[in-house]
Amino acid sequence: MAYSEKVIDHYENPRNVGGFDKNDPSVVTGMVGAPACGDVMKLQLKINDAGIIEDAKFKTYGCGSAIASSSLVTEWVKGKSIEEASQLKNTQIAEELALPPVKIHCSILAEDAIKAALEDYKKKHAG
Ligand code: FES
Ligand code: FES
Repeated sequence: MAYSEKVIDHYENPRNVGGFDKNDPSVVTGMVGAPACGDVMKLQLKINDAGIIEDAKFKTYGCGSAIASSSLVTEWVKGKSIEEASQLKNTQIAEELALPPVKIHCSILAEDAIKAALEDYKKKHAG
């Protein structure tokens, strides 16, 4: 199976790898795992008072497609509102990276990571 050029590019030059200080009140975290393969993705977002995602970072222990998917979503969500980011679909990721069917769950992991981070935001801002 051949990886697409975009997957290889994101895999070799992943954007926004790392994390933020979790004590920073503007930081939220989504941590998810893929039951299919055991890979883990941690995604952090910095969300300002206006509800705009100012920055994003990730750490992924997984395959090339999972790393490429997380790298791509950190680029996509920057500058987006929470509302816009919550509409991001794994199918957009899979399409952009031309993922083959067996690698679709890797893009689902990235969508789940965004959702989990936004859940964390809701929790922190409830009440
Ligand atoms: Fe998880 Fe690909 S099976 S690394
Ligand atoms: Fe499991 Fe990619 S995340 S093979």
